[in-house]
Amino acid sequence: MRAALFDSGVGGLTVAKSLLEHNLFDEIVYFGDTARVPYGPKDKNTIIRYSLEALEFFKNFDPDILITACNSVSAHALPELRKNASFPVVGVIEPGVVALEKKLQDKDAHILIIGTRATISSHKYQTLLKKRGFHNITAKATPLFVPLVEEEIFEGEILEAAMRHYFGDMRPDAVILGCTHFPLITEALKSYFGQKTLLIHSGEAIVEYLQEQFPLTPAKNSTTLKLFASENPEKLKKIAQSWLGR
Ligand code: DGL
Repeated sequence: MRAALFDSGVGGLTVAKSLLEHNLFDEIVYFGDTARVPYGPKDKNTIIRYSLEALEFFKNFDPDILITACNSVSAHALPELRKNASFPVVGVIEPGVVALEKKLQDKDAHILIIGTRATISSHKYQTLLKKRGFHNITAKATPLFVPLVEEEIFEGEILEAAMRHYFGDMRPDAVILGCTHFPLITEALKSYFGQKTLLIHSGEAIVEYLQEQFPLTPAKNSTTLKLFASENPEKLKKIAQSWLGR
């Protein structure tokens, strides 16, 4: 099986990492729209337009499934992508909520959703969580974390200042990492909120979701990863080497 994996830039490699670890596909074709990243501050129509352009690119590879690693795309463009694709299109938001519900039974638990402005303002996570009975929800756009991660700042003073700025003395029971980049600051978030806080990672969530929803038999050989970017593919390949070791 061949999966197309779409992100606004390099961040979706965190989702690629989880997919590769579980060897779900023979091949993953990754496209990062590095020329136009970030999608987070853009409006819905722009995100839809860029996503449909990515879909046209992927069609050349005849994929069996399209996974949108990008939360901002998952929040805004899934209906249009599904209308225009002849294969299933899966986003990361529903899998994240399903994963949270499996791990957290207490509907009164305080859940913090963090993501880009596009993701938070779409209310997609909030609506799905409410449908499942969670009501103590805080949703916060935390876009500063995106450039910090891209600068490979995963710990230290600047990151701590950004966490203080966004979270103050908030101590949620669970945090949904609603952005591709945030799994890379898991350790910093854990030490800020405390080790007991449950963190939901889109990559791990989507692996479980795919295993449950689709008849996937693990690939015999390890997954081939093909990387494409709309600008500077060499940079994407370098980051892949550092984050994925390949
Ligand atoms: N990939 C985006 C997301 O998960 C973060 C970076 C961006 O703003 O494009 O929402």
